[in-house]
Amino acid sequence: MADFVVHPARGLSGRLHFPGDKSISHRSILLGAISKGTTRILHCLKSADVEASRRAVEELGVEVQDKDGAVLVQGKGLHGLKPPRQELDMGNSGTTTRLLMGILAGQPFSSTLKGDESLSRRPMKRVTEPLERMGAEIRGPKGGDLLPLTVKGGRLKGIRYVSPIPSAQVKSAVLLAGLYAQGPTSVKEPVLSRDHTERMLSFLGARLKRNSGTEVTVEPSDSLRGRELSVPADISSAAFFLVAASIVPGSSLTTCRIGLNPTRTGVLDLLTRMGARLVLSPDKKETGWEPVGEITASFGPLKAVVIEPQEIPRLIDELPILMVAATQAQGTTVIRGAGELRVKETDRIDSMVEGLSAMGARIHAEGDTVFIEGPVRLKGARVRSFSDHRTAMALAVAALTAGGPTVIEGFEWVNISFPDFPKLLEEVC
Ligand code: S3P
Repeated sequence: MADFVVHPARGLSGRLHFPGDKSISHRSILLGAISKGTTRILHCLKSADVEASRRAVEELGVEVQDKDGAVLVQGKGLHGLKPPRQELDMGNSGTTTRLLMGILAGQPFSSTLKGDESLSRRPMKRVTEPLERMGAEIRGPKGGDLLPLTVKGGRLKGIRYVSPIPSAQVKSAVLLAGLYAQGPTSVKEPVLSRDHTERMLSFLGARLKRNSGTEVTVEPSDSLRGRELSVPADISSAAFFLVAASIVPGSSLTTCRIGLNPTRTGVLDLLTRMGARLVLSPDKKETGWEPVGEITASFGPLKAVVIEPQEIPRLIDELPILMVAATQAQGTTVIRGAGELRVKETDRIDSMVEGLSAMGARIHAEGDTVFIEGPVRLKGARVRSFSDHRTAMALAVAALTAGGPTVIEGFEWVNISFPDFPKLLEEVC
């Protein structure tokens, strides 16, 4: 277990290039694998999670190469994947698992997916249930709710799925299976979740239609065509630094090519509502597929906010770092309906309450509601990552404002999404 020591910072400044978006990098590899011809991925994230997607498609017979800084996926087309010779190892990656299950549901062979300890505790029924309704046979512990899961694909039929939870992973799995189904497949969600799969499917030639704000239909497809995909920088990774600049006096940081897809920018809206000094400049040139732009964040006083359940999907991965921002904001921040945080890589409500409390924050949870009173001068402490990348990085940012050094245990988990986090932090401090 690697300890990481963070010292209080005086001010962060610089211009930062963040790694490629994790959600979009996964999709580039997985959809590249079932497209015809070469998909050339620029700015693909290199991290343990994305490596799980790469390993999986390689095991399914797809060649993936690194060339001139790009990742080349030699797609096999929708029907060209080979049966795996061994279990597919998903590592820690929920996105690989759930999206790949949608693809495997359409294959004329069986595959078994396994994961690490954390992933093996995470709920899969949300995906296996609609895929079974489409005709796949899925077996695994707890009635197919837990890994390891064996997916026997086959002839699928299109369904209209009304998802009880706003989840991009669920939506994506059903839409990807829909490419292989007879008849159209629709997914309706209670609140729109990130729409990267829909955008990429359209970009690669699938027939996709948004019926209303939260319902989307995909038609069965003959083929997708491989293209060049330029992955925007990850707003979820940038969020740690945007909050750091907002809460450490004397800071000003600029980021570029950040993904500004409106289904992901809840964190920017919320920080703005808290009074943060953010300046956004959307980039006009690159708005064809996924919008990108530049963001500058500077220190300024923050005020507390109430986050309502319908706001959660647009900022789900940023809640740990927003809790840190709330410790420095005037008043009581309330986050309602954050239950999905309990089924992430760790229970992120418990991990953040424990870590921030150890640092002197006034934070507590009642069920799925989190209360944070600020501002509080945090103190250095020994805290734990809970084997969770976002908990680790959020606590590292909290530590920048503390009165003394903080030790974060298990910091190597940042490799899941952001291996360069320590390097970039050193660069700007
Ligand atoms: C993701 C969707 C979200 C998010 C996760 C990545 C994706 O999960 O929390 O980090 O790439 O589709 P849910 O679909 O479970 O909300």
